[in-house]
Amino acid sequence: MGAMRTLLEMKNITIEFPGVKALDNVDFSTETGVSHALIGANGAGKSTLMKVLSGAYNHYTGSIYMDGKEVTIRTPKDAQDLGIQIVYQEVDTALIPYLTVGENIMLNETVHDMGSKQFVNYKEIHRKATEVLKSMHIKVSSKKLVSDLTLAEKQMVLIARSISKECKFLILDEPTAPLSHAETTELFRIVRDLKAQNVGIIFISHRLPELFEICDEITIMRNGKFVIKEKIADTTQARVVEYMLGQKLEEQFPKFQGEIGNKVLEVKGLYDKSVVKKVNLYIREGEIVGLAGLVGAGKTEVCKAIFGAEAKTAGEINIKGRSLKINNPYEAVKQGLALVPEERRKEGILVQETVTTNLSAANLKKFSKAFSFLNFKGEKKNAQDIIKSLGIKTPSTETKVQNLSGGNQQKVAIGKWLVADAEVYIFDEPTKGVDVGAKKDIFELIAGLAQRGKAILYASSELTEIMGITDRVYVIYDGEVVKEIETKNTSEEQILYYSTGGK
Ligand SMILES: Nc1ncnc2c1ncn2[C@@H]1O[C@H](COP(=O)(O)OP(=O)(O)OP(=O)(O)O)[C@@H](O)[C@H]1O
Ligand SMILES: [Mg+2]
Repeated sequence: MGAMRTLLEMKNITIEFPGVKALDNVDFSTETGVSHALIGANGAGKSTLMKVLSGAYNHYTGSIYMDGKEVTIRTPKDAQDLGIQIVYQEVDTALIPYLTVGENIMLNETVHDMGSKQFVNYKEIHRKATEVLKSMHIKVSSKKLVSDLTLAEKQMVLIARSISKECKFLILDEPTAPLSHAETTELFRIVRDLKAQNVGIIFISHRLPELFEICDEITIMRNGKFVIKEKIADTTQARVVEYMLGQKLEEQFPKFQGEIGNKVLEVKGLYDKSVVKKVNLYIREGEIVGLAGLVGAGKTEVCKAIFGAEAKTAGEINIKGRSLKINNPYEAVKQGLALVPEERRKEGILVQETVTTNLSAANLKKFSKAFSFLNFKGEKKNAQDIIKSLGIKTPSTETKVQNLSGGNQQKVAIGKWLVADAEVYIFDEPTKGVDVGAKKDIFELIAGLAQRGKAILYASSELTEIMGITDRVYVIYDGEVVKEIETKNTSEEQILYYSTGGK
């Protein structure tokens, strides 16, 4: 016997922020027991629509219905009382790091007890939290500190917290962006379990294959508007992309035959204190070199160690034959290195500053005195060029970066480093959280750098990207280079084989 379904409908939802109509008469509907994909380019309005549904805004117009009855959602409490729970795109800020997993899951109860100056019943809190974790087969101890968890574990704890309360609808805003393949599989298992318990899942992701694997229905948005709702079984990935971009996406990867010159960067016997082991690699002028490997293999650590952002315990770095000591990013930048880091919100951008400030040389100079040695084109002009070439969606150049959509913040972080006129560019997972159209822009940009003779290191766990954009690949396994191979002589399967420890 199937459980009673609840129908959720949003009608004519419109919301404006200074200079931007983020949602324009959007209709959205889904049911409990269904997993529903929400897709659209960066800045299309997905997160905003879900924030309206979870009570983050009260200045929108339009109506929301449950089983045909109009409901009021103007505060997070309104939404929670109706059983609508959300796990936001910014996982990192949603949990209290110095509390335990259990305290975080039972946060309302904990705070309530504390507020009323009652004795906080930790035993009871851990008992209840453990029950929730167990019901989801999540193997994280309730007594562990949140600051000791991996990103994936934090994600699971957030979901556990959501379903520990009344939960009819669970919204997951890009939950898989930081997860490895195995962790994603684990998350999907939880999603399927919840669906079987008649929870409605709303799932936002830029990875289409994922949506096609886990979702029953899909709603596509473009430019703050509803485009179409379809059954996954009745559509294709190509069709979805066409609806979301308003045009067909041709070949994702730029076709160019770069001219490969002399060695620019050479790394010999690189070690850091924990992960990186005897890494040897080189990159030549005009060459795009991949750093492939699973999430957690040590790619980020290799990038950071080269850039001096992580302490080296041994190793030599040569740039154009000069042997250099690079002990910090300041020296790295001075020697012609640039790193677009993976944790961009933390390390790459100043979210409280405007787009122009972030894209301007002044900011880079602030970031590191080393930039005062570099040559910059006209700053304003440069910022505008970057906005255009990366298709950054922003109401104006003076908008604060924190008001941009997640994907557009990523693009700013990438753009920022393009201002620096470096010899070697290191990109660490540059397409994370970026829509398919924007990915293409980023690939073109990187190919453009290579064409100008720059040396590129491209770290990614996405094998399609490694195959599509690189000339040569180093496969990292457990902090070590286990294979070097010409891209044209390999395959995704082969790289995966070495990535998982195959010899
Ligand atoms: N608090 C805010 N203040 C000003 N503008 C905002 C605010 N929140 C969202 N916007 C704007 O609304 C639009 C939609 O943003 P939203 O975050 O909903 O996009 P998204 O579809 O989730 O994109 P992404 O895939 O990049 O996460 C963007 O143009 C964004 O700049
Ligand atoms: Mg978003």
